[in-house]
Amino acid sequence: MAPRHQAPRGTRDLLPEESARWRVAESRAHGVLERYGYGEMRTPMFEDFELYARTSGESSDVVQKEMYRFTDLGDRELALRPEFTAGVMRAFLEHGLGGRARVHRLWSMGSVFRYGRPQKGRYRQFSQLNCELVGSAAPGADVEMISLFVDLYEAWGFTDLTVKVNSVGQPGSRREYGDRLRAALAPHFDRLSDDSRRRLEQNPLRVLDSKDEGDLAVLGKLAGKLPHMLDTVSAEDRAHWDAVLDGLGAAGIRHEVDHGLVRGLDYYTRTAFEVHDASLGAQSALGGGGRYDGLIEQLGGPPTPGVGFAIGLDRTLLLMEERGLTTESPDAVCVVAMDGTRSGVIAMVRELRKRFRVESDIEARGFGAQMKSAGKSGARFLVIAGEDEWKRGEVALKDSRTGEQKAVKRVALADELATRMNG
Ligand code: HAM
Repeated sequence: MAPRHQAPRGTRDLLPEESARWRVAESRAHGVLERYGYGEMRTPMFEDFELYARTSGESSDVVQKEMYRFTDLGDRELALRPEFTAGVMRAFLEHGLGGRARVHRLWSMGSVFRYGRPQKGRYRQFSQLNCELVGSAAPGADVEMISLFVDLYEAWGFTDLTVKVNSVGQPGSRREYGDRLRAALAPHFDRLSDDSRRRLEQNPLRVLDSKDEGDLAVLGKLAGKLPHMLDTVSAEDRAHWDAVLDGLGAAGIRHEVDHGLVRGLDYYTRTAFEVHDASLGAQSALGGGGRYDGLIEQLGGPPTPGVGFAIGLDRTLLLMEERGLTTESPDAVCVVAMDGTRSGVIAMVRELRKRFRVESDIEARGFGAQMKSAGKSGARFLVIAGEDEWKRGEVALKDSRTGEQKAVKRVALADELATRMNG
C-alpha cells in the first residue's frame, strides 16, 4: 500500500546513516569555530516579515519570490527565516550586545527556508552554518572571516576550492556602476530573459547573478567587456579592498578576483566572497558572504560594521558524500556472548558504553547469528565472551584491522580498547 503522506516538496528526511554523516561534518565545524573563538547564537525560526523585506532588499529574489510568508492567528505578518543575518542582527540590537564589548564573533546553525524550484542541491528547507563578526570595520576582520570560511572547508577535507572575492562598494557607487552596466547590456536587451530585463530596470547588478541559461550565454560572450565594479568604488573602499587582498596573501589563502560576483542580498558593502564547485551546475555556490556595514543602522541601531558568511550545508554534504569525505566513523566495538555469559555481558556492555560505541545482541540469538551480525556491522573490535575465558575473568579481543586476537582481562578491557583506538 502506498503511504498516504510524503514529505512536502523541497524538503527531505535525513535517515540515521545520513544524519551520522552530518554529525561528523557538524562536529568538525564545531572544532574550528571553537578554535576561532566564536560563540553560538540561537534565534527564532521566524521573525517579522518586515525585518527580512527591509534587509534582504525589496527587489531581491529572496523577498520577491522565495519567502515563506504567513499571517498568524494574531494577525501578525511573519516569515520563516530565509537566512540568519537579519535575525542575528535583530537579536544583537535587542539584547544590547554592542554595549557589552566592541567586537562580537557569532555563529549559528540550523534550517532556513526559501521557496524555489527544488533540484539537486536546492531545497525549500535547507541548513546553513552562519558566522558573523560584528563591530570591526578593519580589513583584518574580512581576512579573519574569509580565513574561517576556508578553514571550515579544509576541516571537511576539501583541498581544491578557491574563494572568489570582489568589492561591491557602497550603495552610491553601486548605483553608478548599475548605470554603466545597464548601458553596456542595453544592446543585448532583446536576448535577456524576462526576469533580467526587469532587473536591468530595477537593480541591474542582479543580472550578473542570473542562473538563466540564455542570460549566462549573453554574459559569457561579454566576459571581459563589461565594466568592473571595482572601477567605480571610492578611494576608501579601494584602500580597504587592497588591504584585504594583502591580508589574504599574507594568510596564504588562495583566492581569485571575480568581477561578476554580486551576491543575492542587498545589504552588502565592500567585500563580497563565495566558494563554488562546478559539479553542482547552476546552483554551484557552496557558501558566500561579505561585509554589511549599513545593516545594523538600517535596523535602528548605531552605525556598526559587520562581516559574515553562510555555508549551505546540504550542498556541502552532497559534495562531501560524492567525494567520500564523510566516511569517518568512531571505532565501534561488537560484543558477542554465549549462553553462559549472556547475563554477565549486560553489565559489561553498559560499562563499555560510557566510553565507546558498543553493539550487542538483545534477542538471545545463537553464537553464529551474533558473529554474522558482527561481520555485517563493520565494527573494528570484536569482544567474544566465551564461557571458559569468562570464568578466568577474561574475554577474547579481536582487532579486525590487524586480524590479531588475544585474551584480555575483563578489568583491563576498556583501557586496552582506548589505547588501540588512539594508537
Ligand atoms: P546566501 O548566499 O543567500 O547568503 O546563502 C548562503 C548559502 O546557502 C549559499 O551559498 C548556498 O550554498 C546555500 N543555499 C541558498 N539557497 C539554498 C537552497 N534553496 N537550497 C540549498 N542551499 C541553499 C546568506 O544567506 C547570507 N545571510 C550570508 C551572510 C552571513 N552574509 C553575511 N553574513
